[in-house]
Amino acid sequence: MTNHKAESITITVVGSGYVGLVASACFAEIGHRVICVDNDEAKVRTLQAGGIPIHEDFLPELLNQHRGGKLEFTTDLRAAAQAAQAIFIAVGTPQSRTGSADLSFVDAVASEIARSIDSYKVIVEKSTVPVYTNEWIRRVIERNGVPKDLFDVASNPEFLREGTAVVDFLHPDRIVVGAATDRASDLLKAIYAPLTSGEYYAAGNRIPGPRQQDEPPPLLLTSTKAAEIIKHASNAFLATKISFINVVANICEAAGADVEDVSRGIGMDSRIGSKFLRAGIGYGGSCFPKDVAAFRNVAELVGVDFGLLHEVERINEEQKLRFFQKVRSALWTFRGKKIGVLGLAFKGGTDDIRESPALDIVQRLIGEGCLISAYDPAAEERAKETIPPGPQMRYVDSPYAAAQDADALLILNDWKEFCELDLERLHYTLRYPIVIDGRNLFDPTTMTSLGFTYLSVGRPGLSQPVDPISVFHAPKKKER
Ligand code: UDX
Repeated sequence: MTNHKAESITITVVGSGYVGLVASACFAEIGHRVICVDNDEAKVRTLQAGGIPIHEDFLPELLNQHRGGKLEFTTDLRAAAQAAQAIFIAVGTPQSRTGSADLSFVDAVASEIARSIDSYKVIVEKSTVPVYTNEWIRRVIERNGVPKDLFDVASNPEFLREGTAVVDFLHPDRIVVGAATDRASDLLKAIYAPLTSGEYYAAGNRIPGPRQQDEPPPLLLTSTKAAEIIKHASNAFLATKISFINVVANICEAAGADVEDVSRGIGMDSRIGSKFLRAGIGYGGSCFPKDVAAFRNVAELVGVDFGLLHEVERINEEQKLRFFQKVRSALWTFRGKKIGVLGLAFKGGTDDIRESPALDIVQRLIGEGCLISAYDPAAEERAKETIPPGPQMRYVDSPYAAAQDADALLILNDWKEFCELDLERLHYTLRYPIVIDGRNLFDPTTMTSLGFTYLSVGRPGLSQPVDPISVFHAPKKKER
């Protein structure tokens, strides 16, 4: 964006992970001066040299455009903190052994910021954190001798989905700001003014998305505690929706109904909404599993029984197992079977494999003696760190190479590329035309009419064991 009228604010973002890097690029995009800090020297060098450590739509464009101009990368937190009016903390909050969020990185950064403060700053928690974190950050800063009137702590949770994080940031449903003073909330309002005023959407070279100049996003101002809870509750609710539809899918499967119809029917009720009602092999990723556990832990700590979230987690685990059993029902035995796998990341459109249900299923299959040929458009390098290539795990460079002479093909995430496969080619590439689709990417009638034995999630006939005659006497492979 160029020539906007809004005030340019100097922002420091601590942490260059998914959240920190996307926020940095997007703050620069809406006209602010951004200093992105990370203590990983190698990563900072990569970012300074034009490297892009994550797969994220539009991120390369934004980094190329703003790096060296409005956006700089450094390891020097002290200088960055001193230069900034607002300091966003976007460091990791991994899950501890008890399920609670491990806040030691936030604690360490807060202390270091405190030692650098020499003028008024707003310190903003951007990482997903439990309620009361704001309070703790304030205490840490005060303990380091910073006078109360020299800082405020605010909460500004992010609602970015991996793969579409840039668009989610620049075209959000809402912006949540938790702040206790006008001084802090005014600064945050000024930071987001290019979005909330609609000005950004009028710019010719804006990143495209659903928001328009006359339909800018609302900014919801709350207490810091409410903002913290909004983040956890949003993710826990979305995870609950997914587990709910997965159980409904299992009912559909048993009853002979199609869960896609049921999802559509439920979703048309505006009180429910159509999103996050796609049945599959369970949710994964860096947020939902961790945040559901952390929110459950928060509930426990404040003496509230949130057994519902236990169920959400249990259903999610069971969903992976059910899919695995479905593969077994199609193949009878596993040892020595050649299985093609499409998708390793926790969903399509990202290279992130954290808590990926796909990797979980692949690991189970390897444990049973299967030989896997796997393809993912972006996640291969990361997947190799968890499952190194070997006699049972081959990484290949196309969906057809994964299917080549396989006893079955499994679809484990929802890359758009998979929906556009040449199904006839897939049919003659497979040894047996069995496709077991954990993401319901194809229409069962089409697949059956093409001669596939097609199993998916929550669609008619799928609770029946596969008829071995129809599978192993499937239409003869066509000549290539
Ligand atoms: C999520 C939240 O959506 C985002 O607001 C938050 O800031 C971070 O966590 P993300 O982890 O990137 O984002 O992925 P998301 O698109 O929400 O999907 C999470 C998981 O749920 C994936 O494994 C996905 O495949 C699965 N999912 C999603 C379903 O199984 N069904 C659905 O209908 C939607």
